[in-house]
Parts: sequence; structure tokens; C-alpha cells
Amino acid sequence: MDRQVVPYKKEHRDSCIEVFKTNIGKYFDEGELKGFIDFLDFNVYSTQYFVVLLDGISVIGCGGYYLNSEVVRLVDGMIDKSSHKTGPGLLLLEYRLTKAKAEYPGRNIGIDTSQHTEGFFEKYGFKTTESVKDFYGVGIDKVSMLYNP
Ligand SMILES: CC(C)(COP(=O)(O)OP(=O)(O)OC[C@H]1O[C@@H](n2cnc3c(N)ncnc32)[C@H](O)[C@@H]1OP(=O)(O)O)[C@@H](O)C(=O)NCCC(=O)NCCS
Repeated sequence: MDRQVVPYKKEHRDSCIEVFKTNIGKYFDEGELKGFIDFLDFNVYSTQYFVVLLDGISVIGCGGYYLNSEVVRLVDGMIDKSSHKTGPGLLLLEYRLTKAKAEYPGRNIGIDTSQHTEGFFEKYGFKTTESVKDFYGVGIDKVSMLYNP
């Protein structure tokens, strides 16, 4: 089983949407799907966006980053639910952090996520700065976190 992080291309669009859909329920609200599709269709190339490929073919995850007001923002990171807790989330996070630190040395790195993945990012040095209950949907809070390299 070979997992590789490669730059996003248009041909990955539909698979990324499928990855998003596997996370609807606990991690993403149904109402966020349109925003993600719009992101892929109109904004993805204004970020550095990547996919995690399994055996060079199947997209099992995606995520990116961009610089916004002096802070590197991690955006739209996700792993297909069937592959959670098997290592790809860390692979994708480390890949993005390494690239972002090289590209924007010394910048803080921020993410808006939910309480369901707060523990994942905490494990790798992110600290919570704010939580807003039910922001994304019922049972899905917005948790803002910051990492100081
Ligand atoms: C957050 C996410 C990317 C993690 O991906 P993953 O592939 O499951 O993570 P990994 O398997 O690489 O886990 C690495 C470590 O973090 C831990 N971990 C994984 N998910 C965790 C969670 N939700 N909370 C706490 N720890 C977690 C794993 O147990 C593992 O620890 P270990 O090495 O001690 O065993 C995944 O849960 C996901 O895609 N969630 C839905 C989308 C989402 O909410 N994205 C957040 C940003 S918008």
C-alpha cells in the first residue's frame, strides 16, 4: 500500500467531493458541501492544494494552505472516512506544514476545525484560541487553532 501526496489537478475534483461526502454527519454538515464544491471550482488554485493518492490512483484525502494576513491558513483538509486512523491525516498534515514553513518561514499557522478533530491538531502542537458552539451545524462547533513554528 503506497500513499503519496501530490498537487491537486482538475481530474481529482470528483474524488475530492466523494471524500468530503464520506465525512458528512460527524465532521461536516450537509450544508457545507456547496461551499466545498465552489472552492474546488473557483478558488482551489489560489491555494496550494494537494491530494493523498493510494497506489498512485485512488484519492483518499485532500487539503491545502494559503497565506492570509500574515498567517498561513490550512484549508479543506480531509481523509476519506474509511481510511481514518490509518495514518494519511498525519502524512497530509506533515506535508503541508513542511511546505508552508519553507515557503513562509516564521509565520504562524492557523486552522478552523471542529471539536471532533481538535485532539488531532493538538497532538501536533496546535493550540485552541476560540470555540463557537454549533457554528457549522448542530453538533459541529467551530474550533480555531494556532500553531507557532
Ligand atoms: C482529522 C483527520 C484528517 C485525521 O486523519 P486520520 O487519517 O484519521 O489521522 P491519522 O490516522 O494520520 O492519525 C494520526 C494520529 O492522530 C490520532 N487521531 C486521528 N484522528 C483523531 C481525532 N479526531 N482526535 C484525536 N486524535 C486523532 C490518531 O489516533 C493517530 O495517533 P497515534 O499515532 O497515536 O495512533 C480526519 O479525522 C478527517 O479527515 N476528519 C474529517 C475532516 C475534518 O474534520 N478535517 C479537519 C480540518 S477542516
